[in-house]
Amino acid sequence: MNLKKIVLAVSLFTFSSANSYADEKVPYPKDYRNWSHVKSMVIEPGHPLANPFEGIHHIYGNEKAIKGLKKGHYLDGAVFAFDLLGYKHQNKTITETSRKLLGVMHKDSKKYLKTGGWGFEGFAQSSQTSRLTKDGGVSCFGCHAPQKDDDYIFSKYRN
Ligand code: HEC
Repeated sequence: MNLKKIVLAVSLFTFSSANSYADEKVPYPKDYRNWSHVKSMVIEPGHPLANPFEGIHHIYGNEKAIKGLKKGHYLDGAVFAFDLLGYKHQNKTITETSRKLLGVMHKDSKKYLKTGGWGFEGFAQSSQTSRLTKDGGVSCFGCHAPQKDDDYIFSKYRN
């Protein structure tokens, strides 16, 4: 191998490792509880989404996500957090119990090309490291795919 070939091989290696799955990991959205609240919903047993989303969820969006909700398309860096808690009925109220999981959609049109430009991840309970997706978010994307005209987002803007 001459020097040129070695340089090429090394740079190809660096390029491919920069694009490895490890680098495509969706970051845990550390400050999502300070973002804007988008909406909440309770999903009860028997609903098609009950497995695994039974519970009360609150959806939050960062600034770019809220701008995108108003426009219907999203800039890279837009992030939604789907905060799923258990619930209990108590004296004619429904109140939160502990966190079940945190779902995340992180827009990066280059990194997450295979899943509509959104990185999908679930974090177990309140963990920032215990990841739930095993397929790079493909099955999450499958259910969001019919929302293509709204850039794969179900939520609508409300004031
Ligand atoms: C079977 C369908 C289905 C699957 C699978 C699914 N979602 Fe969703 N997702 C929904 C629906 C419906 C909503 C809107 C809920 C609401 O209106 O409160 C939603 C909302 C969201 C939101 C808030 C943004 C938006 O679209 O309103 C995030 C974030 C999210 N899901 C992440 C995920 C992640 C991560 C996965 C995979 C671990 C996943 N979803 C799998 C149906 C699905």
